Amino acid sequence: MQNELEQLKTTFLEALEGAASVDALEGLKNEYLGRKGKLTAMLKSIATLSVEERPAAGRVGNEVKTAMEQAFADASANVLGEKEAGDLFDITLPGTAPQMGHLHLVTQAIEEISSLFAHLGFILARHPEIDWDWYAFESLNIPKIHPARDEWETFFIADQASSEEDSKVAEGPKGKIVLTPHTSNGQVREMEKGDLPIRMININKCYRRQSDITHSPMFHQFEGLLIDQDISISHLKGTLTFFAKRYFGEGREIRLRPYHFRFTEPSFEIDISCAVCEGSAKVNGKKCRTCKEGWLELGGAGMVHPNVLKAGGIDPDTYSGFAFGWGIERTLMMRAGINIDDIRLLYKNDLRFLEQF
Ligand code: FA5
Repeated sequence: MQNELEQLKTTFLEALEGAASVDALEGLKNEYLGRKGKLTAMLKSIATLSVEERPAAGRVGNEVKTAMEQAFADASANVLGEKEAGDLFDITLPGTAPQMGHLHLVTQAIEEISSLFAHLGFILARHPEIDWDWYAFESLNIPKIHPARDEWETFFIADQASSEEDSKVAEGPKGKIVLTPHTSNGQVREMEKGDLPIRMININKCYRRQSDITHSPMFHQFEGLLIDQDISISHLKGTLTFFAKRYFGEGREIRLRPYHFRFTEPSFEIDISCAVCEGSAKVNGKKCRTCKEGWLELGGAGMVHPNVLKAGGIDPDTYSGFAFGWGIERTLMMRAGINIDDIRLLYKNDLRFLEQF
């Protein structure tokens, strides 16, 4: 009998160890310690033993009972204790500080660029990023069938009513509807406001079917437009040099390369000496993968074409002006100390990258 009692205690203690919930504990209590439980039954059976055997069995029975009840109380305290602790709300604990973010690198650049041009009296405008063909191309002296359109790998908006196979481009009163491939669509829109002179800076998203180290399908441009009387190329050069020196620092070089845009005449592309290879075209003895030649193109510029002035209702014999359009991401990448060698990093949403700035 004593052995059986000891064996029962051992089984009970093992079962208790595995009991992690109140329900499991209740079950064990009923099975072993309850009125119809195994221990109760065994203790009752002591009465059936012989007079000689009963005292020893009774003593062991009491010890086993005390030990089992104590073990049950300890296990209950553990399980209940954890539950209560989980339910507790300690109002004296310090709160969890909210995670502080910061503006995206591109937004920071937009703010800085607008504020630099504000010094020169350029007013921030915002023209649509989904626009008609007229503003994106035709009013800019790029007629419908002109091959220059191919340079802007344009996304067209599909007509909602057309099926997927036979997808037709949506059209409005001023032609097909496009995701603007450049911010130059703001030029004629600004002229149409009818307020002269114009000093506009239009910052917006642009879209092109391009993706590589220096091209992203969605990017930003800032477009400057100045229209007044007696405006010449030297005003354009002075404005761009002011911006470049302020934004990149006195030590960086900028060059104007003759180019051809349909909406400016003469036209230029503006390059800056590369920040990644410091203009040397080499990084660790290898060709710089960002610029390849020591210079990186930042944007285009030129004197506004008379046809564009006419499209905006401005007399080209009285007024002249200049325009420029630069990529914001490229401008940012070329800043000393930033060292981003792939433009697409900016839009990967990787916090490890973004938190550095
Ligand atoms: C234009 O978009 C002209 N509208 C600029 C202009 C405005 C010329 C006013 C004259 C007068 P271009 O296609 O070269 O030009 O683009 C200008 C700049 O936008 C590029 O130099 C580059 O900095 C940026 N850019 C163009 N495509 C992308 C792209 N896919 N990803 C990132 N930046 C881009």
